[in-house]
Amino acid sequence: MDPLPAEKSIDVLLKEKRRYPPPAAFVKAARVSGPAARARLQARGAKAPEKFWEDAARELSWDKPWRRVLEWKVPHARWFSGGKLNVAANCLDRHLDGPRRHKAAIIWEGEPGETRTLTYLQLHREVCLFASALKDLGVAKGDRVAIYLPMVPEAAIAMLACARIGAVHGVVFGGFSAESLRDRINDAGAKVVITADGGWRKGAVVRLKDAVDEAVKSAPSVTAVVVLKRTNTDVAIHEGRDHWWHRLTAKASADGPAEPLDSEHPLFILYTSGSTGKPKGVLHTTAGYLVQTAWTTKNVFDLRDTDVYWCTADVGWVTGHSYVVYGPLACGATVLMYEGAPMQPRPDRFWEIVERHRVSVLYTAPTAIRAFMKAGDEHPRGRDLSSLRLLGTVGEPINPEAWRWYRDVIGGGRCPIVDTWWQTETGAILISPLPGATPAKPGSATLPLPGVDADVVDKAGKPVPPGSGGYLVVRRPWPAMLRTIWGDDERYQAQYWSQIPGMYFTGDGARKDKDGYFWILGRIDDVLNVAGHRLSTMEIESALVGHPAVAEAAAVGRPDELLGQAVAAFVTLKGGRLPSPELKEELREHVAKAIGAIARPSEIRFADALPKTRSGKIMRRLLREVAAGRAVQGDVTTLEDLTVLAALQKDEE
Ligand code: WTA
Repeated sequence: MDPLPAEKSIDVLLKEKRRYPPPAAFVKAARVSGPAARARLQARGAKAPEKFWEDAARELSWDKPWRRVLEWKVPHARWFSGGKLNVAANCLDRHLDGPRRHKAAIIWEGEPGETRTLTYLQLHREVCLFASALKDLGVAKGDRVAIYLPMVPEAAIAMLACARIGAVHGVVFGGFSAESLRDRINDAGAKVVITADGGWRKGAVVRLKDAVDEAVKSAPSVTAVVVLKRTNTDVAIHEGRDHWWHRLTAKASADGPAEPLDSEHPLFILYTSGSTGKPKGVLHTTAGYLVQTAWTTKNVFDLRDTDVYWCTADVGWVTGHSYVVYGPLACGATVLMYEGAPMQPRPDRFWEIVERHRVSVLYTAPTAIRAFMKAGDEHPRGRDLSSLRLLGTVGEPINPEAWRWYRDVIGGGRCPIVDTWWQTETGAILISPLPGATPAKPGSATLPLPGVDADVVDKAGKPVPPGSGGYLVVRRPWPAMLRTIWGDDERYQAQYWSQIPGMYFTGDGARKDKDGYFWILGRIDDVLNVAGHRLSTMEIESALVGHPAVAEAAAVGRPDELLGQAVAAFVTLKGGRLPSPELKEELREHVAKAIGAIARPSEIRFADALPKTRSGKIMRRLLREVAAGRAVQGDVTTLEDLTVLAALQKDEE
């Protein structure tokens, strides 16, 4: 493991002394009301965590009750074993018997401006039809299905249809390239791919079906591709393999019962970046995942039946799984879903949506908040945002300035902010304020939620004293935790359970202050956090060295006002190749094509050599400082050739 990240940034955060107690009007009506109520919950969770989660599990509908709450043998947990339930039935069927039957489940807005509303009854019907259609294509329990769709209701429908029949979905973000899609399909061994002719993004059509055609050329497990008509884009249809969504569902049966599934039946695989080049297929299972996503949705967002709840994440990320689809639908919420880019066609699009649909809970990312802040106050100020009552953030630490802007300009000073820390691997929020109970400190995700045993420790697993930096760990298993890495249990053990003995290591550095508040310092491995999205430096490097001109490459993060971190890549060229601005552009595009536009380096720097230790390891710490334009500090005695560093710094122009 690398040493902890420079602690300067956290000192800046810790100078932020102001505390913001939850607004009194909010506290009065909150589910968890006042600090004492949280303390009581916290004590319950600490004293008997299994009992705590068992109570939460009782809020779901079970086909068969569990026998054991937890079976735990490091590093493998089984939650609620012996029990059976169906995730889709919990998100849909059980709401049909009461007042939620005709309540809006999904209110959707496309980027061009059209809207659609699906009630719980209608969503249920669509899910049943598509579940039957999947069965008609030969999809059986345990089969993997890849989903590569824009943010349209059918993305949720496809996920829920898989869950209904026990197929395991693997959603791939629509911004990923054909190559990334192919790798994920092959790793999961997906039988069917679900896509659309296209999706709208920034006023243009993203040609998803073309990428699928390219990917499936070298994905032998795929027997069928389902194509949703969304943009009316011309696409190639491969007879026998490709099927239009509307044709399949037109002849499918509407009464597909939800299959009762074992608590530990796999629900989905979601790929995320780790510190090696190969993305990890994080596996989540049925019962524990739903118990904890439902509990956190209800309590962290203080969710009410009257809320219009908008989580702006794409379903391609874990936030879209847990807090657009599963958590909120399990709670019977009205979920707003928006297809497009945040400032399309105008910088006030988000605020227009809030106004039009009377959104009451808004959950978004710090990078978006910073972009809105930069675009100017006039955009939110020109809209009626009085429906908002609660705000949330996720994905990276939020800088106190953006936090205050969010609170004052968007929340009008009356909405609490929940800064929620969690990961693809954790499945659900683990560290967060409870909005009616936890005084906020801008920049801190505050406290571990009840029933979650998170801490900041040293390498030996010993808690560090208040104020010192350490590793963020979780000591005991939690219901929504990942169960393994798909097809690579060894990597699961090595990555998460071996670095700090006997504990789950998150990969994040953190600090606890004297009040026990957690301050996340960022990743300590070779993972970047660009605009709240995880990218591995090695993935980017292997894309770069895949270009014929490149000999060696090193990618690092540099601080970026809007993105949090931006990708800077140092590149040495093969003999005979000359640096040029055109080549820089070509390399940036090359990475975008290999991985997806989110990985496109903001900056490429050509170098004659990269700084290395005598044993040949690239010294990323130095490159990070060069990329940030800082003077290189600390130990350089292991550097093989000092002149390399001097040359890199000169190249800054
Ligand atoms: C970072 C996203 C600070 C962290 C749900 C974590 C955060 C990684 C926060 C997971 C937060 C997420 N404050 N940092 N509130 N939330 N992170 O898997 O480094 O895409 O390990 O899951 O994002 O990113 P992932």
